[in-house]
Amino acid sequence: MTLSELTALLDEELARAKEQIDKVETASDLEEFERTFLGKRSAATAANQGIKDLAPDERPKAGQAVSGYKAAVNELIEARKAALGDGAGEVLDRLDLTLPGRGLGRGHLHLITQVQQELEEVFLGLGYEVAEGPEVETDFYNFEALNMPQAHPARSMWDTLYVKLGRPEEVVLRTHTSPVQIRVMESRQPPVYTVMPGRCYRRDTLDARHSPVFHQIEGLVVDEGITFGDLAGTIDAFTRAYFGPGHTSRLRPSYFPFTEPSAEFEVTCFVCDGAGCSVCSKTGWLELGGCGMVDPNVFRAVGYDSERYTGFAFGFGLERMAMVRYGVEHIKSFFENDIRFLKQF
Ligand code: PHE
Repeated sequence: MTLSELTALLDEELARAKEQIDKVETASDLEEFERTFLGKRSAATAANQGIKDLAPDERPKAGQAVSGYKAAVNELIEARKAALGDGAGEVLDRLDLTLPGRGLGRGHLHLITQVQQELEEVFLGLGYEVAEGPEVETDFYNFEALNMPQAHPARSMWDTLYVKLGRPEEVVLRTHTSPVQIRVMESRQPPVYTVMPGRCYRRDTLDARHSPVFHQIEGLVVDEGITFGDLAGTIDAFTRAYFGPGHTSRLRPSYFPFTEPSAEFEVTCFVCDGAGCSVCSKTGWLELGGCGMVDPNVFRAVGYDSERYTGFAFGFGLERMAMVRYGVEHIKSFFENDIRFLKQF
């Protein structure tokens, strides 16, 4: 760009600015005007950058032309502000409500929270209470009071995360919600009809069905004359209420130190409908949790009369239940916080 091209460009641009200043009405018009005539893509910037390519004796003139242009545009802006006056100050500051508003989308509860609340409702309807306990537990509540003394081999059923607190291995992140059973029984006398939802932790490797953080809902019933039939009936009523009639469930003999007899609770796999696939490890069934009749040693640990009372307990995985009900194939979906997944529910 030669010196005369440069000054011609600025003159033309100033003429355009003079034409357009009258159209400025609002604060955002003014910003736009300033951006057009003084901003990064304006003629002023282009001219400024052209200066260094001119002959050294032409440069001061070019510099003056650019600053003259800028001063003139700024004068236009100030004059316009003044012309719009006090009333116009208001115009300039007023919120621009002419666009269709862009709403802030409203969030909702996480699917697992929804599942938890719905299950609480089902059990409240059956006459249960809801209780909660701490996620950081002592060895006593997580194992010992549940009929697993120190070094009991059954402890290896739970890959435990330990907290560096107290004596070595004294404080743990609870591996299940069963310690809340102990806390509930310590705080009251039978009859007990309580569910206890909450977060649990295990040193598990992430796969389609396992995650180191997950949720359970524990159930505990203690009363006179409670039998395994009551347990089976309760689980059946619950399965119907929660999954609807399309799902078959079964109890399979199992082992837990705090229940005797013990069982695993399974439902037909939602992916293959029982045929066997990778989600159910080719078994056709998905394990939702464990259950059984409360072991008399547990009653002894909390001072309940095990001759007078019997009871049952169960612990189900909330993620597993959500997977079955909503057809979610990988447990990690609940923790990734991908909004496209979360907002479907
Ligand atoms: N706490 C057991 C688990 O997490 C489940 C369970 C609860 C089994 C209550 C029996 C009774 O594996």
